[in-house]
Amino acid sequence: MNNGPLIFLGIFFALAFSWGGIIMTNHITYGSLEPYFDEATEEMFPKPIDGLAERGRRVYAELGCVYCHTQQVRRPGYGADTDRGWGNRQSVARDYILQDRVFLGTMRTGPDLMTVGQRLPSPEWHYNHFYNPQITSPGSIMPPYPFLFEKRRIVGEPSERALNLPPEFAPPEGYEIVPTPRADALVAYMLSLRMDYDLPEAPTAEQ
Ligand code: HEC
Repeated sequence: MNNGPLIFLGIFFALAFSWGGIIMTNHITYGSLEPYFDEATEEMFPKPIDGLAERGRRVYAELGCVYCHTQQVRRPGYGADTDRGWGNRQSVARDYILQDRVFLGTMRTGPDLMTVGQRLPSPEWHYNHFYNPQITSPGSIMPPYPFLFEKRRIVGEPSERALNLPPEFAPPEGYEIVPTPRADALVAYMLSLRMDYDLPEAPTAEQ
């Protein structure tokens, strides 16, 4: 007996159903999402990030920050995210539509970063933290990223960009630690991570 056509049809329908279920339904639900126009402020949300922050996104991808950090705030009742101050509402699909690659993440060895630009708005904090997390967060298990900085001999006046480090982390006398363009981009990216707008499908949590 020749079962060829039956096997072919079986495989065809199995693939067609999974494609429909996994790809088509998601495409119909999320593929047509557009930025939300807020009539009160006449602004579109989410907002695109600027070029430097966009470069920082690539540094974030390259350095594997996603292994320890998520960028998704769960709704109250599904975790303590809002209680921890990680956002005052849950994040929804529309928050991510302008991102070509979304860093949702799965592991939370460190805090969620969806709103870190609001929570920690100081660039100095981030530079010091990337240079060595022990400066800002003693006992942290986040790795240091000293290669995002240049240690150089001070010639003439010290650089205005040099990190202002506590004495135990400071370089030897006559040297300074200056951020590289990758550090600048990564810090710009951190500061761009905000969720300070409302979307109709994600109401702000009760405070
Ligand atoms: C091995 C896991 C690990 C990796 C990899 C990691 N982090 Fe972290 N991160 C942590 C932990 C733990 C904390 C909390 C302690 C602290 O502030 O250092 C943290 C804290 C932070 C904070 C402060 C967040 C807050 O709300 O206090 C930022 C910003 C941050 N990380 C950014 C990054 C970036 C950017 C990268 C990639 C360059 C990165 N992290 C890589 C574990 C990690």
